[in-house]
Amino acid sequence: MDKFRRHYLLKFILFPLIFVVLLIWVYSRWGVWFGNPPEASYDIQPKPARVLLTMGMDADTRYVSWVHDSLLDVEWLDYMNVLDSTLMTVESAPVKYHSRSGVGSYYKALMSSLSKEGTYAYRIRTSQDTTQWYHFKMDSSSTYSFLYFGDIQDELEGGFDAMLPSVVERNRDISFLLFGGDLIERPMDCYWNVVFQSLDTIATSYPILSVPGNHEYLKGLTRKLERRFTLTFPYFEVDDESENALYTFAYGDARFFMLDSNRDTWNYFSQRSWLKNELKKSSEKWKIVVLHHPLHSIKGSMNNLGVRMFFDGLMSDVDLILQGHEHAYARSCVDTTEKGEVISPLSLISYCSEKDYAMDFCGEIEKWGTADRYYQLITIENDSLKLKTFTADHSLYDEVILVKNEEGKHYIDKGKTIPQKICVSDWFKNNKSKKKVEAFEKNIKEWKEEHPEALLQ
Ligand SMILES: [Fe+2]
Repeated sequence: MDKFRRHYLLKFILFPLIFVVLLIWVYSRWGVWFGNPPEASYDIQPKPARVLLTMGMDADTRYVSWVHDSLLDVEWLDYMNVLDSTLMTVESAPVKYHSRSGVGSYYKALMSSLSKEGTYAYRIRTSQDTTQWYHFKMDSSSTYSFLYFGDIQDELEGGFDAMLPSVVERNRDISFLLFGGDLIERPMDCYWNVVFQSLDTIATSYPILSVPGNHEYLKGLTRKLERRFTLTFPYFEVDDESENALYTFAYGDARFFMLDSNRDTWNYFSQRSWLKNELKKSSEKWKIVVLHHPLHSIKGSMNNLGVRMFFDGLMSDVDLILQGHEHAYARSCVDTTEKGEVISPLSLISYCSEKDYAMDFCGEIEKWGTADRYYQLITIENDSLKLKTFTADHSLYDEVILVKNEEGKHYIDKGKTIPQKICVSDWFKNNKSKKKVEAFEKNIKEWKEEHPEALLQ
C-alpha cells in the first residue's frame, strides 16, 4: 500500500471508526458510570424515626441522629444515667435536606460527659410528642468485642433484616457495630428504610458506625457523597474544602481510622496527610484502618491503584485493615520476618450481601470465601486481637489471632483447618451473563488445580 493510501485510510476511515466505536461504548456505559436511578417520591416521617446511636467526638460522648417531618422546629434529646436520674437536655436544630424526590428534617444531638461505666436512657422530645426511652451502656473495659460487616446493599427484599438480630442476639456483649460501606443499595429513601428495618432496635442500643461506600454516592462526572449519609452518621468531620468524610475514634487501647476511598483520586492527597498525621498522634496499642475499597484488590492487580498508591505506604504501623466492596471473602497476613514476626497488617476483605462477585484469585491470600454472607466478631484483649469470621448460619468460617507483646507481633492462623467455600453462587448464576458465569467457573477450576492442597467444602 502506498504512503498516500495508508494516510487516507487512517485519516478518513480508521480514526473516525475508532472514534465512533468509542462514542457508542461511552454512550452505552454512560448510565452505569454517571447515571443515578430515579428516586421515588416518599412521605415525610410523621414522628421522630430512624433513631441511631453512634460515637461522638470523644470517648465520653455519643451522638444520636434522627429524622422527623420537614419543618425547621427545634427538638430536644433528654438523657440520664439510670443510677442517678439527673435529666440532661440537649437542644437540636434540624438540617432540612431536599433529596432528589423528597424532603426531611434531620437532627443530631451530642450526649456529653458520660460516665465510663453504666446504663443511660434517652428520648427525643418534640413540641407535640415524646418518644419512648431508649437505653445503651457505657463500658470502658480494655477487653471488648465489636462486629464488622462488609457490604450489605440489600434490595427491598434483602434478607439482612432476618440475619442481623440473630447475630446480635449471639453477641449481646459487643460494644458497637462497624460497617465497611455500601450499607445501602442506592442513596434513596426506600433503601434507607431497608437499612433501618434491619437495624431496628439495635441502632438505638449499640453505637453504629460506617465508612462510606460507592453506593452511598450520587454518580456524576464527579461523585458526591449523598448528604443523608453524613446526616445519619454525624461523627464525620466533613471538611468544607475537600469534602472528605473522615473520622477517628479510640476505644479501649485501639484507635480506628475511617477513610473515604470513594473520592476522586486527587482527594487522596488530603486524606493521606490526615491519616499520616492521625497515625503519628495515636498512642493506642492497636491501630485499625477501615476503608471501602481494598488496598490490594482480588479482582485484578491493576484495580484500586489510587488507594494502594496513596495509603499502602502508611500501613506498616497498622495492625488490621477492614475492607469491602469486592463482594468476596479474602484474608491475609503474609509478610513476616525470618523469625516469624509479622510486619504487615492483617488484611480483611469481606461482605455480608446476597450479591457476590467474581474474583481473580490475585494476591497472596490465605483464606478465600464465596457464596455466603460473612460477618466478623473482633475481640481486643490485652496483647491479642482476635478475628473470627462467621457465615450467615453462624458457623465459624475463619479465625486468626494477632499477638503483640515484648517479643514482637505474631500471628496464629486457626482458620486454615476450616475448609474454604469456593464456588459460584446461585445469585451469581441467576444475575450475571452466561459468559461471566463460565469465566468465574474457569477461574475457580484453575485455582483449585493450582492448589490441590487446599481444604475445600
Ligand atoms: Fe462498593
